[in-house]
Amino acid sequence: MENQELKNRLSGIKSLPTLPVVADNVIKLTQNPDSTAFEIAEAISQDQSLASKVLKTANSAYYGFPRKITTINYAIVVLGLNNIKNIVLSSSIMGQFPKKNRNLLFDRKEFWKHSLLCGIISKKISEHMGIKNSEEMFMCGLLHDFGKLILDTFFQEEFISALQLAHEHQLTVMEAENRIFGFNHSGVGALLLRKWSLPPSLVKAVEFHHSPEESLNAFRTASIVHVSDYLGRRTGIGNSGGSVLPELNKKAFKLVDLTSEQIRQLSLQIIKEFKTATEFLYEGEKKDDDQAP
Ligand SMILES: [Fe+2]
Repeated sequence: MENQELKNRLSGIKSLPTLPVVADNVIKLTQNPDSTAFEIAEAISQDQSLASKVLKTANSAYYGFPRKITTINYAIVVLGLNNIKNIVLSSSIMGQFPKKNRNLLFDRKEFWKHSLLCGIISKKISEHMGIKNSEEMFMCGLLHDFGKLILDTFFQEEFISALQLAHEHQLTVMEAENRIFGFNHSGVGALLLRKWSLPPSLVKAVEFHHSPEESLNAFRTASIVHVSDYLGRRTGIGNSGGSVLPELNKKAFKLVDLTSEQIRQLSLQIIKEFKTATEFLYEGEKKDDDQAP
């Protein structure tokens, strides 16, 4: 999916965002089985603003821990490394993109709402399927449409043309992007996340969330994100640009194996969890929200 045109366009951007150094260190440490909680806490504490965001999120209603978490070390013990990694990564990424936006066709707050919802659904479906790394599936869902933020930030005029085309011809955003750019947001997001050395399973889930059957060894994760995206859009919560719902991939839906009753039950849990998770949306926000990166 990584076509040459896409590589050329992205390599031409001088100010392509990088993962902040502290977040990069934390991700690497959490991927190393020899790392200690103390080392990870030390790494997070290098960035006071990040450390306070981690504590704030750890104390949020979403995690619902009854006692106040006052140190990063304690947050790691209570929430576990995977949750801490998610908080660090989501705060660092969201913090790089202002939520106010000149593009009236792409509301970034609505975009993050849809992304967050998709993350929660991915996690819930993974738990339903008995998958161990359900926290990683949260990140896959959260970042599935990340490429749209890149297109909106660096190629805004063309992205607006794609959104207009989608609206005028009742196309999905992906179809319209393919026509305007010759590539689409799934490839863009995957390329940048790969550059940041994020886990290959996460990158593949993002890359193939619209075409799970094309992924060689990530069919399961891509399918979960695909179905989560579909179910998330049907709730009407948030918006990821465009109004045409991409077709549900039947093989992906068969894999996640959900009955109508299970979807109904899951939806109730998901909406409840989403309400407590919205603090995520306001973490990592730039102080000067009007400046484009
Ligand atoms: Fe997408």
